[in-house]
Parts: sequence; structure tokens; C-alpha cells
Amino acid sequence: MKVIALLAWKGGVGKSTLTINLATAAIEEGHKVGIIDLDPQSSLSEWSDRREAEQPFVSDAKPRAVAQIVEAGRGIGLDLMLIDTPPNATDEVEAALAVADTIIIPTGVALFDLKAVTRTVRVATQANKPFSVVLNRIGNRSDREANRIRRELNKVGMPILREVIHDLKVFKNSSDLGLTAIEQESEGKGAVDVRAVWKLVSKQAGLRAKTRARKNVSEVA
Ligand SMILES: Nc1ncnc2c1ncn2[C@@H]1O[C@H](COP(=O)(O)OP(=O)(O)O)[C@@H](O)[C@H]1O
Ligand SMILES: [Mg+2]
Repeated sequence: MKVIALLAWKGGVGKSTLTINLATAAIEEGHKVGIIDLDPQSSLSEWSDRREAEQPFVSDAKPRAVAQIVEAGRGIGLDLMLIDTPPNATDEVEAALAVADTIIIPTGVALFDLKAVTRTVRVATQANKPFSVVLNRIGNRSDREANRIRRELNKVGMPILREVIHDLKVFKNSSDLGLTAIEQESEGKGAVDVRAVWKLVSKQAGLRAKTRARKNVSEVA
């Protein structure tokens, strides 16, 4: 089982959204997936209550219980455990860092966001864990701007994933319904973004797909 922690020293940058969406991309590849919700606001536990699907298994947890839940996840044969964290809370972040194999840091591309990301990157570096930054909420006509920012940040040694998540209504709408982008619009833009980011994240985590890639509609017909 691989453990991926989502971390950001800032609220509202997409940690929880990315957590559930990456979970679905992993499930689609045949993985058995759990989520540890370390945010005291319990937004993912509430999201899970709105769902009917069994997976991902979501546990609301206090920092001291994390290691035990990770072991329990291993025990029931999970392939992947994602950990969603609150911004700023050191106990939660420490608990997540202690068990994570790899770290994903979502960020917006406003100057404020990019300043905050430097701090998160420092935390990940100090923890001596592999990490990468995912640019989130990229405007639909802003890919060039995102590319520019990625190059700048790469120059200062910050690993930014090549694929980005665009600013799309499906992310909010689907989570309000207890779903994810892939579940709501399997062939939509949000789903395409999530699968592209998951491909890079799963590679970073060393997790290989269990099932063959989905057949696209024309292949099935
Ligand atoms: N790529 C996106 N496109 C549109 N809305 C998004 C996107 N990512 C996140 N959001 C919305 O932004 C808000 C904050 O996201 P959230 O995942 O809760 O951030 P965090 O967990 O970092 O605080 C939520 O309302 C969410 O639906
Ligand atoms: Mg959150």
C-alpha cells in the first residue's frame, strides 16, 4: 500500500477536492482506496456521507490515530491511502508526514498562493519525502500563463507537475452531490485533467494500474 499526503499551508487551494478526485482515478484503475480525513472540519467525511458507493473508505481521524489507521488499511488490503490535511495545523501535518511515502501540494497561481507554496515545500523538504506541486484552478485560457509559472518555479528547483487541473464547475458541483468529476462526467474536461494528473502522481508513488486503461466510447462501439 502506498500513502500519499496532500499538503498546503493555505486553505481553499484544492486539497480536499484533489484528494477525492485522485481517489476516484485510482479506483478506476482497479485500486482499493482509503482516505484519512485529518481536517477537523471533516469535509470529506461529510462528502462520504452523501455517497452511496462503498469506495473510497473515508476515516475521520485525530493525528494520534493516523499510524493505526494506516496499518488497518494495509490489513484490509488497500492499495492506496490518501491523507487530506488542514492548513496550518502542525500536529495533523506531522502525523501525515510521518506515514506518507510521497506528498502532493496543490496550489493556485495567484502571487499569494505561490508565496504560501514556498512554505509548504520547505516542510516537505525538511521531512525528506518526495513531493510535487500541482497547479490547480487554472483558467481555461490560461495554460500559457501556467506554463510560464511552471518554468519559473522549476528554475528555482520546485518540482511542478506538467499536467494541471483547470478551474471547472464540475469540481464543486460533483462534490456537493457526494461525487467526483470522473463520476459525474466521465468524459468531461475535469475527468481528463484528473486522469492526467493521477498518471503522474501514481508514477511518483510507484503505483501501477491493476486494470487496463478504460476503453473509450468509440473502442467499445
Ligand atoms: N479545479 C477547481 N475548479 C473549480 N473549483 C474548485 C477547484 N478546486 C477546488 N475548487 C473549489 O474551491 C473550494 C476550495 O477547495 P477545497 O478542495 O475545499 O480546498 P482546501 O481543501 O485546500 O481547503 C471548494 O469550493 C472547491 O469546490
Ligand atoms: Mg480541505
